[in-house]
Amino acid sequence: MSCPYLQSNLDNMKNNNSNVDEIPILTTTTNSITNDHAHVTEPLNYTTYLGLNSLLSSLRCLSHVDRSNESSLPVHDEHFFIIIHQAFELWFKEIIYEIDSIRDIFGSNDDVATFVFDISLRLNRIGKVWKILIDQLQLLESMTPMEFLEFRDFITPASGFQSLQFRIIEMKLGLTDKSRDAYKSNFFTETMFKGKQSNELQTSIGEVSLLRHIERWLEKIYDETSFNFCEVYEEAVESMIDHDKQEKIQNGIDEQIAEIEADKAKLQFDEMINSIKYQVLVNNNQRRMSHKAMLAALMIAHYYQQPCFQQVYQIISLLMDNDTLMTSWRHRHILLVLRQIGRKPGTGGTDGFTYLQATLNF
Ligand code: HEM
Repeated sequence: MSCPYLQSNLDNMKNNNSNVDEIPILTTTTNSITNDHAHVTEPLNYTTYLGLNSLLSSLRCLSHVDRSNESSLPVHDEHFFIIIHQAFELWFKEIIYEIDSIRDIFGSNDDVATFVFDISLRLNRIGKVWKILIDQLQLLESMTPMEFLEFRDFITPASGFQSLQFRIIEMKLGLTDKSRDAYKSNFFTETMFKGKQSNELQTSIGEVSLLRHIERWLEKIYDETSFNFCEVYEEAVESMIDHDKQEKIQNGIDEQIAEIEADKAKLQFDEMINSIKYQVLVNNNQRRMSHKAMLAALMIAHYYQQPCFQQVYQIISLLMDNDTLMTSWRHRHILLVLRQIGRKPGTGGTDGFTYLQATLNF
């Protein structure tokens, strides 16, 4: 199969009886991260359409160009290391683009029901990108720790920790300072990132996150539900817990233990149904959504087979998939870090493994 870009240019050439390089177009590149707008008149072809000249010329191996220490040789694997990180940043850009488009749908429509299909497609796409990114980390396993050590000094103090796009993804999804420990968002906006980058991050912190959009949507669904879910649910769960207790006793479990377990289950259940007790969990950062939104999610999870809840359930499932995938990426990255540098501190200034392990709670 021939290249589609080549084909369209050949058609143009045939129609205009001219050379590919002589077809002028106005190319507009908009960088959603920096908001730079560059208007360049260039002939349209594969290279100009994809901006390959600037993309491919942005690779600079420090161990190859910095020859101040002539006793060391240029390190072969640094090229590979940079390509991998650059590919990551391109995919991060796509994730941000998709998250923004979903947030826009929620932000500009009172009734998102007609857009559920688009939202599902995009969430599904983000999930597929995370799967690629998890796999992509494996590529770096082909670099030996000794080889990495050979150019690690050259790249210090640069670190993935300073990836602006990664922070923007976290913020746009809904990560707040409450969930962070040592590194709160003001560390990034005031200490790590400066000027334009800091403003960029500040803007994403000020925007309504995807989590908050989902929360509002769920609250609306709950308000529109005509039956008293709490009442129905409370009755069903209470009898389920009692039934479970009886079954345990019949199966030979000590009555006292069965009683303790049933009380524990009732307490946990009460914390969900009782709005005051639930609020304590929110204040302790053990729950992220409002009581009403959580009840709506619970209701949807129970009645997901009802036609009115099927699509909403699908969206909630995709959100949970994405959450799992992002955490899996963090896991995979930690394993890579242990393999490459063990428990040494990171080039970005954290204590490395211990810090990264704490981020799994995000
Ligand atoms: C040899 C491979 C790698 C090593 C040894 C490594 C090491 C580390 C360490 C130690 C940290 C903690 C921060 C610090 O530097 O003090 C970190 C954070 C991070 N790294 Fe890597 N990394 C590697 C590859 C990658 C790749 C391929 C990416 C892809 C973009 C990446 C993205 C990140 C991100 C986003 C963080 C911040 C995590 C957070 O704060 O939640 N790293 N890395």
